[in-house]
Amino acid sequence: MRSKILDLLREAGDSYLSGEEMAKRLGVSRTAVWKHIQELRRDGYDIVSHSRSGYSLQSAPDTLRPEEIKNGLRTRRIGREIRFYPTVDSTNLEAKRLAQQGAPDGLIVVAEEQGKGRGRLERSFFSPAGKGIWFSVILRPDFLPQEAPKCTLLSAVAVAQAAEDFGMKVGIKWPNDVLADGRKLVGILTEMSAEMERIHYVIIGTGINVNIAEEDFPEDLRDKATSLSQVKGEEIPRAAFFRAVLEHMDALYDSILREGFAEVFSMWRRYSITLGQMVRVIDARGGKDAFTGRAVDIDEDGALLVDTAEGRRRVLAGDVSIRPQQD
Ligand code: BTN
Repeated sequence: MRSKILDLLREAGDSYLSGEEMAKRLGVSRTAVWKHIQELRRDGYDIVSHSRSGYSLQSAPDTLRPEEIKNGLRTRRIGREIRFYPTVDSTNLEAKRLAQQGAPDGLIVVAEEQGKGRGRLERSFFSPAGKGIWFSVILRPDFLPQEAPKCTLLSAVAVAQAAEDFGMKVGIKWPNDVLADGRKLVGILTEMSAEMERIHYVIIGTGINVNIAEEDFPEDLRDKATSLSQVKGEEIPRAAFFRAVLEHMDALYDSILREGFAEVFSMWRRYSITLGQMVRVIDARGGKDAFTGRAVDIDEDGALLVDTAEGRRRVLAGDVSIRPQQD
């Protein structure tokens, strides 16, 4: 009902809409409309009223409630169903619980705040209230489980595309760190449940630092992390940015299902800040096999190809640092 009332007010634009008209169009009583308006005001919607002409929406709060995200969202699969939580342990954990109960392809879980935001390698992930976009998408693709890790690239590319739409220049460091000015803007954690030949579900958890000032980050993150507002020099409307991310994800997912990962790879190459650079690779097993070389491309598995003095090496997992260019 809330979102229907908001739709009507948005449709009316600058004109006023009477409580009676809304009640008639929604098939409810005027008192019910009035109660919802009061609730919306409490949640930060600026709705002015005139005793004769009715109500008019002046502005909406910066929230990630479904009615804000869905406002004009053009996607086929991703975000058609949205679960919103003011606070949750971790959107990945909640998505996993929902997936186990049969949640559909494309459902997203989004929270204003995470109590136990999870990062890769059992690390925690800083996810303060109202300042970021902390969300997880449930996918149920029909390709083989070994293809699933590549889905991570989809999220990195979608966020990079959205940032570009908003006039920001960001880059992707292999495999999926979205960086600006050398500092991390986005974290992505992909998890999966599968049998040998069939994926039950893939969960792509993405955390985007949106309106976090430098001093709001814990001290140990300050020189490593950044946010969209720091890059742009102004606050970013979270719902609008989130819609852009979901729309890009949806288009990329659609192309993956139709023709495989070619489009995602080609977009990834476009945003890559790793390719062409000298890199130091520390192998995922803990640094025993570190080596240096020039990153030249990714292959059809998403593995990084690195040319070293001893020949070409293929990196499927590991930590890659870009070495400063030497003259
Ligand atoms: C990393 O960089 O180590 C990955 C961080 C992933 C964070 C996101 S925030 C939304 C989703 N829920 C989680 O608990 N983690 C992911």
